[in-house]
Amino acid sequence: MQNILILDCGSQFTQLIARRLREIKIHSVILSWDSSPDKIKELNPNGIIISGGPDSVNDPDAVNIHEDIFKFNCPILGICYGMQLISKFFGGEISSGNSKEYGITKININSSSELFKNIPDKINALMSHGDNVSNLPEGFKITAYTESNVTAAIENLNKNLFGLQFHPEVANTEFGMNILKNFAFNICKCSGDWDIKNFVDSTINFIREKVQDEKIICALSGGVDSSVAAALVNMACGKNLYCVFVNHGLMRKNEPEQVVKSYENMGLNIKYVDASELFLKELAGVNDPEKKRHIIGKLFIDVFEAEAVKVNGAKWLLQGTIYPDVIESGMKNKKGAVLIKSHHNVGGLPEKMNLKLIEPLRDLFKDEVRTLGKIINVPNEIIERQPFPGPGLAVRCLGDITEERLNILREADNILTSELKISGLYKNIWQAFCVLLPVRTVGVQGDSRTYNEVIALRAVNSQDAMTAEWSRINFDVLDKVSKRICNEISGVNRVVLDVTSKPPATIEWE
Ligand code: XMP
Repeated sequence: MQNILILDCGSQFTQLIARRLREIKIHSVILSWDSSPDKIKELNPNGIIISGGPDSVNDPDAVNIHEDIFKFNCPILGICYGMQLISKFFGGEISSGNSKEYGITKININSSSELFKNIPDKINALMSHGDNVSNLPEGFKITAYTESNVTAAIENLNKNLFGLQFHPEVANTEFGMNILKNFAFNICKCSGDWDIKNFVDSTINFIREKVQDEKIICALSGGVDSSVAAALVNMACGKNLYCVFVNHGLMRKNEPEQVVKSYENMGLNIKYVDASELFLKELAGVNDPEKKRHIIGKLFIDVFEAEAVKVNGAKWLLQGTIYPDVIESGMKNKKGAVLIKSHHNVGGLPEKMNLKLIEPLRDLFKDEVRTLGKIINVPNEIIERQPFPGPGLAVRCLGDITEERLNILREADNILTSELKISGLYKNIWQAFCVLLPVRTVGVQGDSRTYNEVIALRAVNSQDAMTAEWSRINFDVLDKVSKRICNEISGVNRVVLDVTSKPPATIEWE
């Protein structure tokens, strides 16, 4: 299969390069900077991109790629640190710290370069570097430079080598996609024949090869990522996939029943475990948010493990990890350690039970997971589901967690969600939910004084949940929600709106 290989030198943008290539229908594979030439040859890449990275090439411990890679007969594009590696390897000089540039910078382009075909003479591009190429290696020429005369792009056509000091993969580099297209289509001669359907086929083959006839277990919560991962593995391994849905008693109104029904309709081998009594018993009287999370996390593992051991001979644990969950893309640091953050509520389980991990979505972004889910017929009610925290309503029920308070919260949440759906706003909001506050306030209902619970409405827009902006929901919709909550739910006499973005607040209240 045609592909462009990305050698990861530790850039925060490495996955973004892969994603951009997927957007132009090019299959890409990311390997660590220290991959052997033999491993790379096996992939038979049409081109190689060397990513940026945090090191300085002048540091003796800096990451470096194997020199034989430069003897391959395919085009190589170095981005930022990648360009400096190429320059240094061929005898150029790199200065450290003289011409630091961070942010959008004006670039003058020599448009006769194939890399810059049909790109204007001047573009704004994202620079993020402390080092720069101060002396060009022999046989190379400068194809772009900044207004302060820093080398912004180089090439050596005889050797099929190209370098960019700026980042074409980020959205705020003008014509960045065109530059990547020029590299992929004109220079590497790719035809753009890949799409997410290929991802489905190749991932299914990969899973089958890896897992063979062994049994796989997974915990499902109704979330998009784990559901799409399970649907994919179900296509690959069918009944060898054992899914467990643990009802911790902290789900929203009718959610456990609906989610399990969707899974059954998807043909998943699913076991429903109602552990709500156990969770609520352990959470009784616990107010501290971190303690709540800790109790839920531990109980979840206990309950899931008890189910998992019933699946005789299970060898694999499936997780719906996606790229934003992975802090570092498996890149080895200088000491050779692989730094990965495992961010899932069944963390700890693989080692404890001696399970091997499968994470088929770990290279994808959320919207790609949704697209993939649609292709493999995961129902819309799951694909369009807003993110919901693992500890569920526990982190939205501030103060005591009791069945009565949870029911108040469920009813309020149901009213908010239905009104947002009726008004058409729901699908444009990243997350909208209610929070039950740990205070009571005085109200007047039916000529009597009340001293009741308060509901806060929280709605945010976000791209990746790292930052979020509070959603400006129409006042008439808010008014309707507030009236319905106070009229229909006994025990609530006040509704307030959270108008804080993230930062300084977080999306959830606990
Ligand atoms: P915060 O509150 O940190 O949340 O701004 C960011 C996103 O993560 C979700 N969230 C969680 N998801 N387990 C999860 O699976 C958790 O413990 C958890 N806490 C927060 C939150 O809903 C938001 O989408």
